[in-house]
Amino acid sequence: MPAFGPASIQGMFTEMHEIASQLALKWARHGSDTPIMVTDDFTRLTLDTLALCTMNFRFNSYYHDELHPFINAMGDFLTESGSRAMRPALASVFYGRATRKYWDNIEVLRQTAQGVVDTRRKQPTGRKDLLSAMLDGVDSKTGQKLSDSSIIDNLITFLIAGHETTSGLLSFAFYLLIKHPDAYRKAQDEVDNVIGKGAIAVEQMNKVRRLLTFRFYQKATTNMRGPVASLHCGRSPRDTAPLSHDSHGVTSCQPGRRYRRQVLC
Ligand code: HEM
Repeated sequence: MPAFGPASIQGMFTEMHEIASQLALKWARHGSDTPIMVTDDFTRLTLDTLALCTMNFRFNSYYHDELHPFINAMGDFLTESGSRAMRPALASVFYGRATRKYWDNIEVLRQTAQGVVDTRRKQPTGRKDLLSAMLDGVDSKTGQKLSDSSIIDNLITFLIAGHETTSGLLSFAFYLLIKHPDAYRKAQDEVDNVIGKGAIAVEQMNKVRRLLTFRFYQKATTNMRGPVASLHCGRSPRDTAPLSHDSHGVTSCQPGRRYRRQVLC
């Protein structure tokens, strides 16, 4: 069974629901007067969901005030990767400190992924997921398995690609909903009508995908302001979301930043 086929995704629902419910509970306990750093919590939500669903690994990010070191290392690493790509090779002699930090950050990413692999090896579960596919999978032609180094590389790619885009999308969707109270109410009504007030079940996901509001925000957040905004040609929306990220230096999605013509176009 493919690690990301529809049946596998459906099988992840309980764990996705668990992590999302923890976030709802955390926010509810803060009460209405406590400011919440929504973007950070969406980072916790998506990193923990991805790691639990695909690797059965718990970052338990909600229990820590600081984001996991992986997040800062990732942000700094991505920013420096972009900068290095723009510099002539010879210029590297002037960037000794940046280069050391770059490799230190890579080490944090690799150690985090190594921790995920070690945990699975120490506590084998028999569970079939992305990690077990990488650890146990054998190439049908060569009979070879993935090397540990390659597994680490792939885990890092998944941990980054899987969480950061989604947390960016959620942050922009949240911002748009708060900025447009009428749409917020409409979305709330639609969810109440389609899902009801009880806990959402996996069978209801198809109905959610048909929600007008859901589709509108998916489109608005991914195309206009979201994780892929930087891939679009031409001028992007210029209004500035008041959700500025801190030092993460997230490259693909920075609420609070004005998107303009990008180098990829
Ligand atoms: C809002 C959610 C997401 C958006 C907008 C998004 C967008 C993208 C884009 C634009 C690419 C580059 C495609 C290309 O190079 O042609 C990409 C690659 C990728 N995405 Fe996503 N993605 C999202 C969520 C996810 C999730 C949840 C996962 C994993 C569970 C994931 C895993 C990957 C992987 C593994 C790659 C390939 C990275 C590479 O080649 O280095 N993405 N995504």
